Amino acid sequence: MIQQAARDFAQNELLPGVIERDDAQRFPTEEVKKMGDLGFLGMMVDPKYGGSGLDTMSYVIAMEELSKVDASSSVVVSVNNSLVCWGLETFGNEAQKEKYLTPLATGEMIGAFCLSEPEAGSDATSQKTTAIDKGDHYVLNGTKNWITNGNSAGVHLVIAQTDVEKGHKGINALIVEKGTPGFEIGPKENKLGIRGSDTHSLLFNDVKVPKENRIGEDGFGFKFAMKTLAGGRIGIAAQALGIAAGAYELARKYAKERKAFGTEIANHQAIAFKLADMHTQIAAARHLVYKAAWDKDQGNNYDLSGAMAKLYASQVAMETTVEAVQVHGGNGFVKDYHVERLMRDAKITQIYEGTSEIQKIVISRSILHN
Ligand code: CAA
Repeated sequence: MIQQAARDFAQNELLPGVIERDDAQRFPTEEVKKMGDLGFLGMMVDPKYGGSGLDTMSYVIAMEELSKVDASSSVVVSVNNSLVCWGLETFGNEAQKEKYLTPLATGEMIGAFCLSEPEAGSDATSQKTTAIDKGDHYVLNGTKNWITNGNSAGVHLVIAQTDVEKGHKGINALIVEKGTPGFEIGPKENKLGIRGSDTHSLLFNDVKVPKENRIGEDGFGFKFAMKTLAGGRIGIAAQALGIAAGAYELARKYAKERKAFGTEIANHQAIAFKLADMHTQIAAARHLVYKAAWDKDQGNNYDLSGAMAKLYASQVAMETTVEAVQVHGGNGFVKDYHVERLMRDAKITQIYEGTSEIQKIVISRSILHN
């Protein structure tokens, strides 16, 4: 039922404007509002905070369907659900949940997760943004980079260094509202893919953040970021899976219609074998994504299964989309056929929420040291 609802929404609401939004780099404001109304923005949140109360498996199924059509919209769903809502619901206190989680889960506003910096993307412990303790508040200074939902978000979870001496144990996660004095949104990034998504740098200049906006105990910020990202990776793995599956479905349909050398091109083994490879790899990626979601739902550790799912699904997304363009030939290179966009969108799944190399660090540490 959830799969069908997401599929219908993607076909009826996301598909019609997706090429134009990509071209114009326009954020899907109306579409995001509708996804909020349908419950896609707080899928795993307890209904008492306005969420849909579903499990991770339902979430990845929806993510796959939305991503088949529009990865710029599905990343909003992923960041809001996995990073912002999950982080707040799991580690926030009751007052924070009442104030922020309910509007985020219902889609009244969306959130952003602000960890990356000009010099701290993969090396996330090297935070240069500071949150200096001033008694009843923190003073925040620094710059964050490549922030998804950067301008559209009403609330930002900002990771910053309070005590340099303590290294990663001196980092805090703060809830910062858009419009707080000293908080400026930098220019929008002009990106290769997910061009409808709203990516900005953020500048903090003596921003006063009340202490009650700190998530967890003093020094919990790095753990907060790592635990939250571990779940976020499952959402991005599902996004990568959807991009791959969307490109495969288009390639299969095209191969059964397009004729060359007197027959549909699907009848040529060169094309049929490409489709066979795509189908096999996508099925394998789906198993890894479902396993990671299942681990999370069962209360098992999902650092390893989530990283494996993201590593593999993002690789499959890249390879499948390149091949889908090839199956389409010249038509694949023009925008009307959608596969070139999916190919551009696929690349980000190997970069954000930890590059493929970071996933290999997580995987190798897990298999070698546990
Ligand atoms: N869960 C809980 N704790 C964790 C953890 C996890 N998954 N991973 C690490 N930690 C803890 C460690 O246990 C350690 O704590 P102790 O000192 O108490 O033992 C602490 O964090 C530091 O760990 P490490 O020394 O291992 O830290 P590291 O920096 O060397 O390595 C890393 C960890 C995996 C490489 C990490 O830095 C990392 O994940 N980097 C990538 C960050 C990232 O994903 N950035 C993307 C930005 S967000 C984004 O893209 C969102 C978006 O907009 C779409």
